Amino acid sequence: MSNSDPASMSPFSRLIVTGGQPLEGVVRVGGAKNSALKLMAAALLAEGTYRFCNIPQITDVALMADVLRATGCAVRWEDADPTPDLIIEVPAEIEPVAPYELVEKFRASIVVLGPLLGRCHEARVALPGGDDFGPRPIDMHVSGLRELGAEFETVHGYIQATTDRLVGSRIKLDFPSVGATENILMAAVLAEGVTVIENAAREPEIADLCELLNKMGANVIGSGSPTMTIDGVGEMHAADHCVIPDRVETATYLAAVGTTGGEITIKDARHEHMAMLCEKLGEMGMRISSDADGLWVLAPTRLRSVDCPTLPYPGLATDFMPFLVALLSTTEGVGIVTENLFAGRFRYVDELRRMGADIRTDTHHAVVRGVDRLSGAPVKAHDIRAGAALVVAGLGAEGSTIVSDAQHIARGYEDLAGKLSGLGADVVAE
Ligand code: EPU
Repeated sequence: MSNSDPASMSPFSRLIVTGGQPLEGVVRVGGAKNSALKLMAAALLAEGTYRFCNIPQITDVALMADVLRATGCAVRWEDADPTPDLIIEVPAEIEPVAPYELVEKFRASIVVLGPLLGRCHEARVALPGGDDFGPRPIDMHVSGLRELGAEFETVHGYIQATTDRLVGSRIKLDFPSVGATENILMAAVLAEGVTVIENAAREPEIADLCELLNKMGANVIGSGSPTMTIDGVGEMHAADHCVIPDRVETATYLAAVGTTGGEITIKDARHEHMAMLCEKLGEMGMRISSDADGLWVLAPTRLRSVDCPTLPYPGLATDFMPFLVALLSTTEGVGIVTENLFAGRFRYVDELRRMGADIRTDTHHAVVRGVDRLSGAPVKAHDIRAGAALVVAGLGAEGSTIVSDAQHIARGYEDLAGKLSGLGADVVAE
């Protein structure tokens, strides 16, 4: 890989945020992490050379590149405008294995299970661990792939999947799981006959994946709706694709300006991927308008509290929740945030309390009573979004906030400190 390989970047471990400046200016949102990782996994389905544009240069992408290399692919960055392209060369024969040393570093690698099974009729993928926000089972991935004809056993910490042939089936998910939908979809594209996924996840990243799969010769209809139909094809081929913009990174900038007040433009952001969030922020007092170039945002110095339940897309994303809690920490009134996806996703609340936030949690609810101002403090990032939320909180706080374990943030954000500094914030990575 070239020098722009994220793995070769010197990682930072702390972000120092000095609050108090209203944000002004233009920031460009990068490509969506949760789409990029799945597009890279999809490349395993067919031999050839793929060129992906707008892939973010983040740690998780570097790790997924290593997972692909472990199967025998070559992965490199090539200079392009405005961001480097990722080139993946997939050989005629691949090794259907995702080793523990990589899988344990990032859970999203489980998404290679479906494509490896579809292409090689076998896969050996290390069992992913839990996240800091609780256990994350893969039972729906496994039962969906079983319905297509795969057999599973767990040996020495690896899921071993084999099949003589995959045959299309009607699969009803208990819950619209993003990862299960993607794994089943990527196995079904090369199965014999028709697969129908009912109660499929509808996230924009899944529609992006379907678009790539169809370019590769697959026949998927109904992406972005709860019922997806996949007519299996005998063979697929390599294709080029540009990743959609990251709606969670966009939400980070929205929350940041909501916290500090100000006026910013988020270039390339797509309103239609986050309509519910924009509506909520509007209720809180922000003005957001969209055009073909992105989002324009105006935030007064203090917002009003609202209640925020998280739900699968098109509901309010669970990934927005830490930003909303950070934002509600200083809004006028009381807001109740209900987390309906990941029960244990409130660990960062203790860190916000260290900054003076008034938050009570009970099972999957957080009651956030807005205080006038937070005060900067040393805090710890437990995961990507929690870390970014602490940066958001620090932007509005009095004094300096030192976010340690900030390497988690680099897993999902390309130069968050630089981008926020470009909007006038005082954020230093070290
Ligand atoms: N679930 C099961 N069984 C399964 C699969 C999921 O019980 O077989 C449960 C999970 O435990 C969870 C819920 O279903 O309670 C939703 O999980 P889902 O499968 O939808 O999530 P995921 O695919 O593991 C992706 C994103 C997450 C995002 C969620 C929800 C990637 C790499 N990750 O995870 O993003 O929070 O969807 O939208 O796409 C992040 O970017 O920081 C992040 C955590």
